[in-house]
Amino acid sequence: MISKRIEEIINLLDRCNTLADIGCDHGYVAVEAIKREIANKVFAVDINFHPLLKAKELSKKENVDDKIEFLLGNGFDPIEEEVDEAVIAGMGAENICSILSEAKDRISNTTLILQPMKDIELLRKWLFENGFDILKEKVVKDKNRFYVIIKSTFLLDKISFTDKDIYIGRYIIDRTEEGYEFLLKIKEKMQKIFKMKTINFLDTSHEEKILTMLEEELKKW
Ligand SMILES: C[S@@+](CC[C@H](N)C(=O)[O-])C[C@H]1O[C@@H](n2cnc3c(N)ncnc32)[C@H](O)[C@@H]1O
Repeated sequence: MISKRIEEIINLLDRCNTLADIGCDHGYVAVEAIKREIANKVFAVDINFHPLLKAKELSKKENVDDKIEFLLGNGFDPIEEEVDEAVIAGMGAENICSILSEAKDRISNTTLILQPMKDIELLRKWLFENGFDILKEKVVKDKNRFYVIIKSTFLLDKISFTDKDIYIGRYIIDRTEEGYEFLLKIKEKMQKIFKMKTINFLDTSHEEKILTMLEEELKKW
């Protein structure tokens, strides 16, 4: 059974020729992309052998294994061609940024679907600083946990961005109930950090700035 998170990742994909599923694990994205005729060919990559075996088994069961290439390795390294689209989901932003950094010269024509499990602001900052624009963001609440999915592509022009773009996001403001709930959750987290820092006489100017931005944004809903 495909989770809501995976379903939303798949929904953000465009019809394409080649798709890379980096860190494919169970292989749900790879298999569904072929089954739903979103991609003609998928490169399912994982740094660990066991997940690849699981993905391969699933693809055989679903009769799509002839259209998926299973590759063991780090990030984009084992893929020998430029792909149209790539999904990197279910890992920390730091790991996603490091995978993107290592592949920077070969993903300028690739649409990226990225779903970090934590430190979303780190990923937004990396994308903007490295010339990748954020086209879309989606907040998904699945089994009481929030996930943000980012769709991004490389731009030739320099990208200007603000703190708000990094900490709140440009497109979370799509006025969905889930988006609103997510902003409240960030506010709660930020308030906790603020309190903890205040107790310890630490500088809270960063948290104050973000809390003000959040208040302003929440007022608009
Ligand atoms: C928690 S799973 C997420 C699986 C799936 N993408 C999802 O969103 O449900 C993370 C997977 O990424 C793999 N992984 C972590 N770092 C990787 C890297 N640098 N290159 C390729 N695979 C990686 C892990 O082995 C693991 O199977």
